[in-house]
Amino acid sequence: MKTIAAAACAAILLVSVAYAQQPDPLAPTGRWTAYTGGRAATPPMGWNSWNTFASTVDEEKVMGSAKRIVDSGLAAKGYRYINLDDGWAAQRRVSDGHLMLRADKFPSTVSRKQKTPSFKPYTDKLHAMGLKAGIYSDMGRNTCAQAWSATDEDLPKGSVAEREVGLHDFIEQDIALYFREWGFDYLKVDGCGLRDFGPHSPKVKAGQARELAPIMDLGAISRTDVAAVQDLFRRVGAAIQSNRPNGDFIYSLCIWGAANVRAWAKDVGSVSRTSDDISPAWGRLLVNYDSAVHRALYAHPGSWNDPDMLYIGAGDFDADHLTEARSHFALWAMLNAPLLIGADLRKTPDALMEILGNADIIALDQDAAGNQAVVAYDSSDLQILVKTLGSGDKAVAIFNRGSAAMDVSLQATQMKFRDDAPVELTDLWTKKQMSFTKDTKVRVAARETLIFRARGTRILADGLYLSEQPGKVNPAIDGVTRPIADPTIFRTAFGWGGTHGAGDRPQYAGWGGARADSAPYGQTLQVARKPYPAGIGILANSRLEVRNDGYRRFAANVGVDDSATDKANAVTFTVYGDGKRLAESRPLKWGMPAEPLEADISGVKLVELVARSTATENEAVSVTWGEAALTGR
Ligand code: GLA
Repeated sequence: MKTIAAAACAAILLVSVAYAQQPDPLAPTGRWTAYTGGRAATPPMGWNSWNTFASTVDEEKVMGSAKRIVDSGLAAKGYRYINLDDGWAAQRRVSDGHLMLRADKFPSTVSRKQKTPSFKPYTDKLHAMGLKAGIYSDMGRNTCAQAWSATDEDLPKGSVAEREVGLHDFIEQDIALYFREWGFDYLKVDGCGLRDFGPHSPKVKAGQARELAPIMDLGAISRTDVAAVQDLFRRVGAAIQSNRPNGDFIYSLCIWGAANVRAWAKDVGSVSRTSDDISPAWGRLLVNYDSAVHRALYAHPGSWNDPDMLYIGAGDFDADHLTEARSHFALWAMLNAPLLIGADLRKTPDALMEILGNADIIALDQDAAGNQAVVAYDSSDLQILVKTLGSGDKAVAIFNRGSAAMDVSLQATQMKFRDDAPVELTDLWTKKQMSFTKDTKVRVAARETLIFRARGTRILADGLYLSEQPGKVNPAIDGVTRPIADPTIFRTAFGWGGTHGAGDRPQYAGWGGARADSAPYGQTLQVARKPYPAGIGILANSRLEVRNDGYRRFAANVGVDDSATDKANAVTFTVYGDGKRLAESRPLKWGMPAEPLEADISGVKLVELVARSTATENEAVSVTWGEAALTGR
């Protein structure tokens, strides 16, 4: 009996020791944890072969566009990466796993000295032109063209094993080949190999590809092994880093918003696709744009949201659709998207080259502060986006998504400028200047995006709201415990499935993530009926990291947001400076007025904002860091 009791005591003790040792998942780390590994202090710019050439890409086509990039002056404006997409691989040599390229398509890769063709002379050529070189692979054993291409003509040839040109079992070897041996600077890693080669795949059934149990499903996050996908992408990232220790690389994740990547890519790579492929159709642009537009807090210098390549030059964005082409460009710049031209530049008309070369708009995309635009006015047909630039100026875009012209009232306060002082606007297409106080009326044509640089008198005179500087705010833990699809992203009939099947369903997880100037599910930030036009909305049990470059004071009004559905659990808000606790609120419940929270952050490099709740359902507890700001330099 005694022994049983003693054993029970020991067990209880062990359990409680283990419990006591459980690390606090919200403990401050004292360091910025979002990815800063590659050369993406600003979003990459350049060209990619896929939109125009798909798997028919060859050296002449690539070099033709590269030459025009240089000759037209686009290179001098920042377009540097010349990226080969899918279609370059011939097969994997089974004897040693070496990847063979399509030498017939890339003649510079063949030399008398070397038996095995090498891309080194090709990348040397691009480097000699002052450009950088990019290449493509897939995280599985096979690429997307191998899964989806209608013909076999341009696909890898040979046995099943020879056709396995993806990274899956060759991460170290292939990454060393791309970066060390061949001299590439940019790698896009696609994901069809992780998704499309299950037992029902036509290629697998036909004996053309080996089965790989799918670990990712764009249509269902619950059928996705997020941790396994993440692990593979981290391994590739580590391999790139060790093959390019000087950090001169771009690591591009291409899993189209699947596997909850819109939440974690910011910790893993330089750019990450937030949606399925763009096509030259207006509806498709809306999908891709929507997949990134509410995700400003998930983009920072080093790691950017990627709504896919530019389709300027084709379909709804060709030279007969300059309004749409300009919108595409302006919106991508406001989103801090990679600016990767997808057109055959050998043939691109001057009117489109002018759009791609608009230096004032490029400057918004490339602004060093790295703040993706925040939605200042949101509706299904009209949006106003505002981006805070390093200079303190604002960029503002007024986007008419619909098919009829609209009269819009632009307000100074939407830019967080005072409405009793003049606001100067410069139209970045026409260069016309205008000035207004309080508000001004503008007419925006169907599908048009007006885009301005704006200067005014700030409402917050001596600092910045956190929602004005999303590039410095990282939702390290955003509280989302059960990723579900975002219902607000436009669903178009121009998706990959066309109008087959039952339609385009919501599919991009991330709903309920951290938002600038909005509650997590899109409502107005509001605590006990008091609205907060500025602030961060996030779920409970979350931790935000905020970079501080010299401000002395943090202040916010904190509380449980009126949009929360849990009225029982209290939330405690804590401010840390470089890992040390600086200030804490009382436990606050739904309906209680917001409480002011202030901290002296002099000399602090990293502020962390933690909202702890007794709730286990974080999704039911939206919290507001109202008017959260860094002030006083
Ligand atoms: C996927 C990607 C595209 C392109 C193709 C290549 O569809 O999303 O951007 O790389 O594969 O096959």
